[in-house]
Amino acid sequence: MAIEDILMYDESLFQNINAFDPDYMPQNYNFRDTQMEAMAMAIRPAIRGGQPSNAIVLGSPATGKTTAIRKVFELVEKTIYKKMFGHIPPETGVPFSRIYDQIMKDLQRNEKSLVIALDDVNYLFQSKSANKVFYDMLRAYEEYPGVRTAIFAILSDLEFKYAFDKNVNTVFIPQEITFPLYSYSEIEDILKNRAEAGFFPEVLSDEVLEQVAMYTYENGDLRTGINLLKSCGNIAEADASREITLEHFEKAIDSLVSINVSETIKSLNDVEKNLLKIIADYDGIYTAGELTELFKQKTGSSYASFNRALDKLEFVRLIDIKFTGKGVKGNSREIILRFNPDNYVI
Ligand SMILES: Nc1ncnc2c1ncn2[C@@H]1O[C@H](COP(=O)(O)OP(=O)(O)O)[C@@H](O)[C@H]1O
Ligand SMILES: [Mg+2]
Repeated sequence: MAIEDILMYDESLFQNINAFDPDYMPQNYNFRDTQMEAMAMAIRPAIRGGQPSNAIVLGSPATGKTTAIRKVFELVEKTIYKKMFGHIPPETGVPFSRIYDQIMKDLQRNEKSLVIALDDVNYLFQSKSANKVFYDMLRAYEEYPGVRTAIFAILSDLEFKYAFDKNVNTVFIPQEITFPLYSYSEIEDILKNRAEAGFFPEVLSDEVLEQVAMYTYENGDLRTGINLLKSCGNIAEADASREITLEHFEKAIDSLVSINVSETIKSLNDVEKNLLKIIADYDGIYTAGELTELFKQKTGSSYASFNRALDKLEFVRLIDIKFTGKGVKGNSREIILRFNPDNYVI
């Protein structure tokens, strides 16, 4: 299709393209009732001015944690509560101490409880302010008697579960609410719902849906799947097609893979990049032995650093290492590049 035509073509496959945005709130939100009930139970005491419970919300990326919290808070707001402040904080930021004092006094005056959701709290740990934030929130009652607070800490990296200081651990005794990975059929169901919200009817066949769901289940998470649907739609539209075909799906996968390869290459250190470059510059297939020699000659690096770099390249799936059954004790290995080096900058 000519560029003018792409721009002018006014038949869209998208009924609502926002349905594929990261902050879209799905109408149908299934498979998370248990978790949302647990959250509601933890909040419930607060509704009568009592002490809400602390919780840790745990689960891999894209298992629905943020969406679940937002849904539950939305329900709380609908039933009784107003948001505390009806305005967005100024961009320059407000000193923490001022907000803190204002919130706590407000709670005290109105005899209300506070539940704070801290999303992706792993990042708070990176800035080292997590312990202070938790401590200030949970010990507020010492300075403001009668105030009742609880924290929902949302984590996608399980390591951080035990990263609190001792003095926080004595006040933060959370219940755990776990978000397991979705099964294949759950993924298919969620993606089907999303496609129905985003595309006009009959744009996405069951056959293509299954391919998208399978790819998502095997190679990524729900976010990958939702992006893939959108990208399939865009590719089909640019092709002036009324529906998404398997060919469009293949193209969408190719572009996804190529973005991933580029990002992976960018994330390598210099030694790893040098090694990858040597492998990519050669038309044939190296054995590990040949490659070690060449690498030592070119970079002066040690055998150990060669091996580390080789393992890393295999781990991030830029290369395959195949045992050939030949060589000393049949241990000879061949190094196979998994991408076309002409398409990437190393
Ligand atoms: N059960 C579900 N039903 C519909 N969409 C879902 C469901 N779980 C997750 N999603 C979608 O997947 C994406 C990631 O969900 P999100 O709540 O941001 O995950 P997390 O916070 O665990 O990383 C969002 O687009 C969200 O709408
Ligand atoms: Mg999230």
